[in-house]
This record gives sequence, C-alpha cells and structure tokens, in this order.
Amino acid sequence: MGRVARKPLMVGNWKMHGTYFEAMQWVQALSYRLDPADYDRVEVGVAPSFTSLRSVQTVVQMDDLPIRIVAQNLHWAPAGAYTGEISATMLAKLSVSYAIVGHSERRHESGEDDRLVNRKARAALSAGIRPIVAVGETAEERDSGRAEEVVGRQVSTCLARMPSEHVAGLVVAYEPVWAIGTGRTARPSVAQEMILSIRERVRSRHGDAADELRIIYGGSINPGNVRALMAKRDIDGGLIGGASLDPATLAACVKYWM
Ligand code: PGA
Repeated sequence: MGRVARKPLMVGNWKMHGTYFEAMQWVQALSYRLDPADYDRVEVGVAPSFTSLRSVQTVVQMDDLPIRIVAQNLHWAPAGAYTGEISATMLAKLSVSYAIVGHSERRHESGEDDRLVNRKARAALSAGIRPIVAVGETAEERDSGRAEEVVGRQVSTCLARMPSEHVAGLVVAYEPVWAIGTGRTARPSVAQEMILSIRERVRSRHGDAADELRIIYGGSINPGNVRALMAKRDIDGGLIGGASLDPATLAACVKYWM
C-alpha cells in the first residue's frame, strides 16, 4: 500500500507565557511571516493560555488566518462542579481545533495519569476537538532501556476505548521528557524509531487508521534542527515550546520545507 499523505502539523505551545495582549501580537507577527505556500504545506497552530484564547480567536477571525487555535488542556467532564476547570464545549465555542492532553508538565506537576489523559482525549473528541495526546519517557526510563515499553503503555491507555475512525483523526505528540526545555533534542533517528514503534502499536489495534494518525515530535525543536527531524518518514510535525515564543523563530520552524 502506498504511503498515506499526512499533512505536517506545527504547533507553538506558549505554555504560561504572554498576556492576552502579547498573544494577539504574537499571532499577528507570525501571520505576517507566513505565506499561502506555507499553509498549503503545513498546518500551523498556536496554543495560548486560556485567558488569551478569546483574543487570539478574534485576531484569527478578523484577519481570516488559517492558523489553528489549540488549547493547552481541558477537563474531562462536559460541565459540573469543577471550580477552576474548562470544558471541551467551552473551548469549542472559541473555535479551538485541537487540545493538548497529557503534556509532561501536567503529568509531573499536576499528577495527571494515562487514564485521566484518556478521559480528556475522549471529552475533546466528543466536542469536535482533536486531541494532541502527549507521551514520552523520562531520562531514567530511557537509560534503563524501558523507553519503548513505557511509551507503548502510555499510548495504549491514552487511546483506549476510542473507535478507529477517531484514532485516525487525532495527533500523538512524542515528547521525551529529557528533551523538553533542555536544549537536548532527540536525534532524528531516535525520534523516528520511537514514532515508528508508536505507529505499529496503533496499527496492531486500529489497522489502517495508523497510517492516517499524525505523530509529531516535541522537545527543544528550533530552526536549526527541525529540518532533519521532519525529513524522517514517520515524523509528522512538531510541538514547539521555547522557540515558539518568538514569532520569527516559530515561522522559521514552519518554513522547514523551504
Ligand atoms: P520545548 O517544549 O520546545 O521548549 O522543549 C516543547 C513542549 O513542551 O511541548
């Protein structure tokens, strides 16, 4: 069977950076640097903080930008007595297309586990939002030779009880914990190897949906290393933290294909 064309996805994860005003400036500055040819080749997204989503939505709609709005998190319940939480329905009303679930910073700082990530991913899907399911091993897990086993388990639990047609439309982000915010990027061959193993695991359960599923890499991506990563057959995009805070640098990552 021929290779299924998967459109690469590049998402800037702004984490807890930027006020709503800065977020508006960043998305506008990013758009000034991107051309129709970039959007044709690469799906582009930004993940602002919750307080900036509405403002970013306004800029995106006013300027009719083909930039996807991505949430950094969401709650698994559709509504309820959950003080401080945000539901998928609320996000969908803000034109949010994707939501990151299970980012390692949430796993490690807020104690989120794979079962919770699975509930969040299914909540997103039921509101028409595509989850970006983040997985990745720690340095200790890699050093002890358990990386593939750990990540495989994360993928299986996070994608449990999902029909294959949903799996085909979602995104998995392989983000080795030791590469996030450290300047220590995974070698392209290492990222490719893990991402291929994720795809094969998904294939064993969901068949051809594995060919449509996009699996992206995250961890210290910058304009200097993005091209080599993206040259790998199974790497379908990037989740970019630190380098996304400068719109020029984020644009340079999107333009890896040039
Ligand atoms: P980084 O973050 O690019 O700063 O390593 C990536 C991420 O956390 O998604």
